[in-house]
Amino acid sequence: MGFSFAFDDEDIENEDKGNQKQQNSTEQVINPLDKTHDQGIEASSLNLKEILETLLDVPLTFSEAFSKIYKRELFDVKHQLMLEDDNIYNENLEDTLMGNDDLKKYIYEGGLKTWECSVDLIIHLQSLSGEFFEVSQIIELGSGTSLPSCFLFKECLTQSRPMRFVLSDYNKSVLRLVTVPNLVINWFTSLDLESKQELKKSFKINADIDAELQITRELIDKFFEDLDKKSIEVQILSGSWGRDFLNYIDVSRKSLTLTSETIYSPDIVPTISEILIELSKSGKCVVAAKDIYFGVGGTVLGFLEYLNGRINNDKLGLKYELKRIATGGLNRSLITITN
Ligand SMILES: C[S@@+](CC[C@H](N)C(=O)[O-])C[C@H]1O[C@@H](n2cnc3c(N)ncnc32)[C@H](O)[C@@H]1O
Repeated sequence: MGFSFAFDDEDIENEDKGNQKQQNSTEQVINPLDKTHDQGIEASSLNLKEILETLLDVPLTFSEAFSKIYKRELFDVKHQLMLEDDNIYNENLEDTLMGNDDLKKYIYEGGLKTWECSVDLIIHLQSLSGEFFEVSQIIELGSGTSLPSCFLFKECLTQSRPMRFVLSDYNKSVLRLVTVPNLVINWFTSLDLESKQELKKSFKINADIDAELQITRELIDKFFEDLDKKSIEVQILSGSWGRDFLNYIDVSRKSLTLTSETIYSPDIVPTISEILIELSKSGKCVVAAKDIYFGVGGTVLGFLEYLNGRINNDKLGLKYELKRIATGGLNRSLITITN
């Protein structure tokens, strides 16, 4: 007696549908961090000293942004861009950076300007009464002007607390023009009067000490000498978030990860969420964001939906706490993720 499986055409069609389903579900499980970003910028680790060397003799004009945290003035950045020739850090972005665009998808992601929620993050950090000293690494994702990191950098400097700072931005030019200068400015403003006066002797500009400094050889040397003495390290990362970006970070350290105004686009929510899920294995992550990004489409609700989906579907042992901020014009939130 012959034997056959009782397949008919409908079964075969169903099997095809099943395969299709399986294929679709395979596609769905590719982590956004592992997708190739055709239009993004490859992640790379930059050398802080080399960045500072490219700024030799550049004067920096700054002002107080919030609560004794200083930042380089935007007009000063634009002035520098007008004066200088191309270099590898400027990514041929002069026209974009000189314009008034807040964002240019896949080209410039808004880091030159200080966004409101970074101040919410500083206020939150101030309320933690030094809890951040319990970690050995502070990571800021999408630093831009990096004011939250500058606040913690200053705390570590003035209280001589060893720390590793990981500052990152999509654009190398942003890291060179504002992230790194702001670190130097906040270091300089934390010095005692005598040290400031001593450094001022190396300036070739007639600097008003409260609002201007100049990157000189002496200043660079003193900056690194001070960081060394206080065991403060700074790592600078550029490029798109993805697995390669994550591979540059020492996840074995107990860390505090900060990010402000980085969930503004629905396209990027899966990627930033996955980065935060990974980094939450090393410690707490704090996200500061507007509830709705009008015109761009990102929302806190969308971000939490993605996070809840991952927590519930994949049984992640993550928790998060949502704090609403309703002062000022737009509603904003702080989301603290813990493992
Ligand atoms: C709107 S800016 C916010 C800057 C700063 N955190 C603040 O609050 O002032 C968004 C930041 O997210 C970063 N960013 C956006 N998309 C990114 C991506 N795909 N990969 C890496 N960084 C990205 C950019 O570096 C940019 O500095």
